Amino acid sequence: MPHVMTFSHSYLENKDGILYIDGVSTTELAKTFDTPLYVLSENRIRENFRRLRSALLEHYEKIRIYYSAKANTSLAVLKILENEGSYLDAVSPGEVFLAFKAGFQPERILFTGTSVRDDELKFLIDSNVTINIDSLSQLKRLLKFHVPEKLSVRVNPEVGAGHHEHVITAGKNSKFGIWEADVLEAYRTAQNAGVKQFGIHMHIGSGILTIEPFLLAAKKLLKIAHEIHEKLGINFEFIDFGGGLGVPYKPNEKPLNIKEFAEKMLSLFKDRIKEYNLGEPFFCIEPGRFIVCDAGILLTRVNTLKVTPFKKFIGVDAGFNTLIRPAMYGSYHPIVVANRLNAPEEEVYDVAGPLCESGDILARNRLLPKISEGDLLAILNAGAYGFSMSSQYNSRPRCAEVLVKDGKCFLIRERESFEDLVRGQKIPQWLK
Ligand code: LLP
Repeated sequence: MPHVMTFSHSYLENKDGILYIDGVSTTELAKTFDTPLYVLSENRIRENFRRLRSALLEHYEKIRIYYSAKANTSLAVLKILENEGSYLDAVSPGEVFLAFKAGFQPERILFTGTSVRDDELKFLIDSNVTINIDSLSQLKRLLKFHVPEKLSVRVNPEVGAGHHEHVITAGKNSKFGIWEADVLEAYRTAQNAGVKQFGIHMHIGSGILTIEPFLLAAKKLLKIAHEIHEKLGINFEFIDFGGGLGVPYKPNEKPLNIKEFAEKMLSLFKDRIKEYNLGEPFFCIEPGRFIVCDAGILLTRVNTLKVTPFKKFIGVDAGFNTLIRPAMYGSYHPIVVANRLNAPEEEVYDVAGPLCESGDILARNRLLPKISEGDLLAILNAGAYGFSMSSQYNSRPRCAEVLVKDGKCFLIRERESFEDLVRGQKIPQWLK
């Protein structure tokens, strides 16, 4: 039996051994735009957004999906989601700026920052976006400048989860959110200052593949919302359960069942808002990874093969400057040989980047076809936290990004040049 690689998603195709994404040949893309290269499928981004929306709408009408921009802030990606009717989760003034550039109206933006400076608060006030408060300090400083019409509070629901300890954003070690003991004071302070409309929010972590942590934390958040409603008479305009919906990366991981997620979360939500007399608030979630992760691949070219007494290394042109997840979290990303998909897997390699650090490894002990210099590797599931976490480390200009759709491609972000390495830099006169 010849070996023929297949993909579970239709936007990735094996055409005579060549990987195609959304109808475009990856070998042609690499030829046209060079490597390393991020490629994003527009159809898949839309599909991910739509299947999440329809799963939620099956159970409740008043829903909002806030795309968490940090996963991929490219303007074209933001524009696709703006077109789809998405809302947006921004965590920095820069993300608010980018969201405006992509056409998001301020009413559709929720800002959830931590360690927010006064000048940033002023920027947010001028921008007219809804602010989600992360600390009593932030609230008091905000109210000194301005009393907004609407405000939300990020609660630490004491339940955290995630694929790595760095991405668990609730619980006792977390810097995020306001603990239950202070939540009442936060709302009372805002109410006394004259805030009229309220939301309540949590975000427990990222890369969560089971529904239980969401349910546990949601129960806690709803209980706190009840307490606030009882004590202060606040009717919430929205209740936001954050992002964190995971995507499988490893072959043995199972996808989060999105229909079941929607069914269980919304049945809990509907029961509790009724029981607690909370009216009909919007049900909100803030997925980043779920929307863009599997829509993106990273193409990287093999330039070196090196055999040591212990290892076989494949040297490629993408390193942790391009995709930091393996180095930072030990993350696994599937890798295929894009120009020879049907070659049988028969060698174990470490896939190494060009940076001068031993941790610059994209994959360890990976079973792959026998590799030749010049082969094109595709690193899958690279659409979320790939480009957005890339850097110029080792003075390597950041790579380009291409959007593909139904056989068409478009360069949405140019490859940086050496000039970009010196942009904004100056040598003082006394050194000249
Ligand atoms: N909402 C808030 C307030 C967040 O901080 C985040 C992510 C999200 C939503 C979206 O989470 P998602 O649905 O994408 O899991 N760089 C890490 C992930 C860090 C996530 C930080 N916050 C990674 O590459 O795995």
